Amino acid sequence: MKFFIDTANLAQIKEAHELGVLDGVTTNPTLMAKEGITGQDNVIAHYKAICEITDGDVSAEVIATTYDEIIVEGEALAKLHERIVVKVPMIKDGVRAIKYFTSKGIKTNCTLVFSAGQALLAAKAGATYVSPFIGRLDDISTDGLQLIEDIRLIYDNYGYETQILAASVRHAMHIINCAKLGSDVITGPLSAITALLKHPLTDNGLAQFLADHAKAAGK
Ligand code: G3P
Repeated sequence: MKFFIDTANLAQIKEAHELGVLDGVTTNPTLMAKEGITGQDNVIAHYKAICEITDGDVSAEVIATTYDEIIVEGEALAKLHERIVVKVPMIKDGVRAIKYFTSKGIKTNCTLVFSAGQALLAAKAGATYVSPFIGRLDDISTDGLQLIEDIRLIYDNYGYETQILAASVRHAMHIINCAKLGSDVITGPLSAITALLKHPLTDNGLAQFLADHAKAAGK
C-alpha cells in the first residue's frame, strides 16, 4: 500500500520523506491556503518545491469547474513537473476532463468522491486515482470504510486499474483498516502516519533492554 501525505507543509513532507515511507503527496486549495500560499505564481512555485522533495506523485488540484477551463488549467499544471497528477473534482465537466486527460497520458486524481457510483464513473473515465473522503463520511455518521470496501469490490469485478486513494484519513486505525480492505493508497496527515509507530509495549521493552544492557555493562 502506498502512503501519501495530505499537506502542503514542506517541513512535514520532508519529515515523511526522510522516514523513508513516503510514496507521494496530495494537496488541495484548503491545504495550500493553510500554508499561506496565495497567488498563482506562489502556488506554482510551491508545487515545484513539493515535487523536489518527494519521488512520488504530487496531486495538484484545479480551481476551474467548467470543462474548457479545467483542460487549460490541468494541462498547465501537468507541464510543471513529471510527477504532477491533476486533481479534478467529481462533477460532470470533471469526469469529461478526466477522460480527456487520460487520452493525453496525463495522470489524474478524481477528488471529492463520496459514493460507489461516483467511483465507478471515475474509473470509467480512466482516472489514475479515485479519492473517496472517508473521514468526512464518518463525520456525518456514514461508514467511510464501507465505501472503500464497496469500491474495491466493484473495481475488482471489472479489473479497473484506477487506484483507490483513501483520502480524508484522520488517524492510524483508518490506515490499518484501509490496508485490510485493499485500498491501494492512503493519504493523511503526518500525525496519522507516525501514530503507526506507537505501542506502549515497544517503549517499555526498549527501556528494559537498555536498562539491562547498562546493568550488564556495570554502568
Ligand atoms: O485529500 C482530501 C483531504 O484533504 C480531505 O481531508 O481532513 O479535510 O476531510 P479532510
